[in-house]
Amino acid sequence: MKIVVVGGTGLIGSQVVGILGGSGHEAVAAAPTTGVDTLTGTGLAEALQGADVVVDVSNSPSFEAEPALDFFTRSARNVTEAAKEAGVRHHVTLSVIGVDLLPENGYYRAKVAQEETVRDSGLPYTIVRAAQFFEFIAPVIAMSTQDGQVRLPSTQLRPIASADVAAAVAAAAQGEPLRGVRFVAGPEIQRLDRLGEITLAAEPDGRSVVTDETVGLFAGVPDGVLTGDDTVDTAPTRYEDWLKQH
Ligand SMILES: NC(=O)c1ccc[n+]([C@@H]2O[C@H](COP(=O)([O-])OP(=O)(O)OC[C@H]3O[C@@H](n4cnc5c(N)ncnc54)[C@H](OP(=O)(O)O)[C@@H]3O)[C@@H](O)[C@H]2O)c1
Repeated sequence: MKIVVVGGTGLIGSQVVGILGGSGHEAVAAAPTTGVDTLTGTGLAEALQGADVVVDVSNSPSFEAEPALDFFTRSARNVTEAAKEAGVRHHVTLSVIGVDLLPENGYYRAKVAQEETVRDSGLPYTIVRAAQFFEFIAPVIAMSTQDGQVRLPSTQLRPIASADVAAAVAAAAQGEPLRGVRFVAGPEIQRLDRLGEITLAAEPDGRSVVTDETVGLFAGVPDGVLTGDDTVDTAPTRYEDWLKQH
């Protein structure tokens, strides 16, 4: 199959392109650095010519509410319209577990708008909602550091290796359209402050974690929202094992 991966140069996208190419598909990375801009539409029609499936794992350059909303709505509209024009028979989108439960988060509102644009497009689709990536935890710790202290809330997460997310997205791309949502998360539910401690213990640098329920992106998020329920597919990689290799 010809499978176009929008955002195919990114963290998830490059791994999806690798898995699909390794399975014998023609996997094409579509991103500004390969001449495809989904905001302007530049290069989209050419990239999608003859495609069977389109996978959208692109990300907004800004996580602020307004630019993210503009990115995900405009980009999803351009991609779905070009995909219909090209006769694509399956659209796969990567989203986030809990996006519809946190309307106060502008980035999540933008992801919900992206999902709705795909659902309303008329294309057969699958939405893969993933939990927070392991790769996301170190930047969260860095952003939360002040004077040697890492202030993190005890919000429940169920983080997942980006490689496991890429495998789930690649599997969805090779399967039939669900016309619904598939959830995927890591094997363990852990609290963010504890994840901070585990991360720092793997490579001690003098910093310590202080639990603070008032700070950061995940402050005040109720238990269960970002972890999903028991319908979530469990990926194999454990965070502590992953840390040893990264
Ligand atoms: N972080 C998390 O924990 C988490 C959890 C669940 C789901 N997600 C979702 O996972 C998705 C992928 O995230 P990621 O970390 O892999 O992203 P990333 O590494 O930041 O990659 C973003 C990709 O989007 C492309 N892109 C940016 N602007 C574009 C445009 N105008 N037209 C076409 N492509 C464009 C980039 O292309 P260039 O390389 O050319 O710039 C790059 O390939 C996101 O949609 C995010 O919402 C994230």
